[in-house]
Amino acid sequence: MAEARTPEAEGSPPALRTAGLRRVFGGLAAVAGVSIECHTGRLHAVIGPNGAGKTTLINLLSGDLAPSAGRIEILGRDVTGLPAHRIARLGVGRSYQRSNIFMSFSVFENCRIAAQARLGSSMRFARPAARYEEINEAARAALRLAELDAREDLVAAELSHGERRQLEVAMTLATAPRLLLLDEPLAGMGAEESARMVGVLKKLVPGHAMLLVEHDMDAVFALADILTVMVDGQVLASGAPEQMRANREVQQAYLGAESHG
Ligand SMILES: Nc1ncnc2c1ncn2[C@@H]1O[C@H](COP(=O)(O)OP(=O)(O)OP(=O)(O)O)[C@@H](O)[C@H]1O
Ligand SMILES: [Mg+2]
Repeated sequence: MAEARTPEAEGSPPALRTAGLRRVFGGLAAVAGVSIECHTGRLHAVIGPNGAGKTTLINLLSGDLAPSAGRIEILGRDVTGLPAHRIARLGVGRSYQRSNIFMSFSVFENCRIAAQARLGSSMRFARPAARYEEINEAARAALRLAELDAREDLVAAELSHGERRQLEVAMTLATAPRLLLLDEPLAGMGAEESARMVGVLKKLVPGHAMLLVEHDMDAVFALADILTVMVDGQVLASGAPEQMRANREVQQAYLGAESHG
């Protein structure tokens, strides 16, 4: 039977769990004791003002930065301090706030490179032809999920801004992650592009544990199953989105400006 990728069974560990996660830059604690969880089939949104530590948190979870203290578990396994390529191999995929795309390569080639980086090493004993096909299929499947398959032959530089962000999501998906870490995938998008991306992300939730950092509150409230508000490196509050919207402290720290806007 195919592997079920629905929410974890009772008692099995969450896709991601952190405890007291901390990262210091000189005298500044950018992430100052964060404990959160992500579960398969749920989208956990992290919001907070500029400089709250959201990107630093993602960098810690992906292994791009080493924690100063605290613990990170992926699917019940302690991965604290492991380098990014080891964490990626355990099924963690991330997108970047700034683009990672090779502009002179085609949309398909960009996805293929991303798939190869992950699947290439795990398939090193397979026949070259089988490996080639498997990597192509992973790239194609990712482009379909990100609704970019109709554009696969275009050079990346020809894509619109919104399509480039879709390509970044596709490149993340091409690595077949179980936990997706997305840093502002809607940044700089117009209403139509945002709606399209929200549709893509919504479709990904059932098969993945997702952590989404995003400033677009319409998207956050359309997508989030759980919402964590970060301020000054710490979790100010965490819970159901409607509960967060009604929370006085949260309104004052972050959402207040929006509700008057
Ligand atoms: N490599 C670094 N060296 C020194 N300070 C850093 C570094 N990376 C981040 N910081 C600082 O850590 C704090 C948190 O930054 P971070 O980028 O995580 O915030 P953010 O919540 O992602 O903000 P934004 O919403 O603007 O993307 C900021 O004060 C930032 O200047
Ligand atoms: Mg950021």
